[in-house]
Amino acid sequence: MIYIGLLGCGTVGSGVVKLLEQNQYTIARRAGEGIQIKKVLEKDSEKCLQLGLDQAVMAGSINEILDDPDIQIVVELIGGIQPALDYILEAMRRGKHVVTANKDLIAEHGMILFETATAYKVDFYFEASVAGGIPIIYPLKQSLAANRIKEVIGILNGTTNYILTKMSREGQPFEEVLAEAQALGYAEADPTADVAGLDAARKIAILSSIAFNTRVTFSDVYVEGITAITPADIRYASELGYVVKLLAVAKENSQGQLEIKVHPAFLPDSHPLAAVNDVFNAVFVNGDAVGEVMHYGQGAGQLPTASAVLGDVIDIARNIQYGISARIGCTCYEDRTILDINQLSAEFYIRMTVTDRPGVLAGIAGVFGNNNVSIASVIQKTSSGNCAELILITHKVQEQNMRDSLAVLQGMSIVSRIDNVIRLEGTERMEV
Ligand code: NDP
Ligand code: HSE
Repeated sequence: MIYIGLLGCGTVGSGVVKLLEQNQYTIARRAGEGIQIKKVLEKDSEKCLQLGLDQAVMAGSINEILDDPDIQIVVELIGGIQPALDYILEAMRRGKHVVTANKDLIAEHGMILFETATAYKVDFYFEASVAGGIPIIYPLKQSLAANRIKEVIGILNGTTNYILTKMSREGQPFEEVLAEAQALGYAEADPTADVAGLDAARKIAILSSIAFNTRVTFSDVYVEGITAITPADIRYASELGYVVKLLAVAKENSQGQLEIKVHPAFLPDSHPLAAVNDVFNAVFVNGDAVGEVMHYGQGAGQLPTASAVLGDVIDIARNIQYGISARIGCTCYEDRTILDINQLSAEFYIRMTVTDRPGVLAGIAGVFGNNNVSIASVIQKTSSGNCAELILITHKVQEQNMRDSLAVLQGMSIVSRIDNVIRLEGTERMEV
């Protein structure tokens, strides 16, 4: 029997308890040994008792798990930075293997976690930390290891994908759909991490570190959320052949430098990620040998996330039986440059409200031209009173040039307001 110490019996922890019970026989056959939870650390023991766990399983403190020589695997599902970090590091120092779903922790403290796992020759697995039930960490580390990865683009946050899908299907405003997502339990208690793009930024930091073999932390990722997206932007996107998605993008350029960012984007409706709707997540990977690969599924939730956690546990159980560990350790053996957002280029959609009279368009075009921003198309959508709504799409331009243009435009009397500026992504596939 392989014994687990479980930290946290909330949404994911209770999923682990249930799935271990539900598929006990299959898991034991596949792992080569039975797997059993020996101790659980949870603030509210009632949560565990309701799942059928015995009171004797409840640990009074973390030390009951750390000091127990029978426990070989610690599964951390309490979330947050502390005490999770201290608990994991101490478990590793005691020779215990660790499985976690904690993206916040890995995106900020990945280095110390990997160094400690290597130093103490223990396994450190974290498949569930990105895109819940979708296998992506192991495929990147193992199945795609022969490729040079060119890009990883993900829809990595279920809440924002749900909101954007509902806004586009039913034309509902952002605030209304967010309230729905909260009521359905998709959003975090404080949904800022979802809608501000922080959750997706943590996940793409983890994926980029693996895909590009360089340490990428949360603070390296440029982040914009979806709070400024309106039904009008979504409608115009659709008219132009795009969908609006919150994308997490990691790419390397021809010099091996990296572009890592999270922002809402106009994505061609023919792109494989455009069909990913509701709370579903997907990760699109482009490798030099394999070409395009897309991983799709449930990025959150009790059983999908438990599926990823227990997949890791089973793999560690196999390693234990063969007396091997830390086989795939830290993969960050390079030190790549991560470019600042102003050094990047993008195509842009710009929606602005301007005075509706002769010469206005020429004035606006002049500002873009002076800043090296080349316009691909302009549409005047509506006029009311003496105001007109303009939709502009640019060619690929330097971010800094776009910012400089917008700063000038904002100060012009003919520009009532810049309603929104959204990048285009994935358009190169349209040209193929
Ligand atoms: P929950 O808040 O539902 O569960 C965490 C549980 O741990 C709670 O019961 C909490 O108690 C308990 N807990 C917190 N701190 C301690 C402590 N110091 N000692 C003992 N018990 C403690 O979180 P989730 O299950 O949703 O998430 C767990 C982890 O999985 C997080 O890192 C999350 O980011 C990650 N994750 C979650 C997904 C999901 O779908 N929910 C998907 C992918 C990853 P209390 O509530 O009283 O604080
Ligand atoms: N709040 C997250 C989401 C949960 O909406 O995707 C999974 O990390």
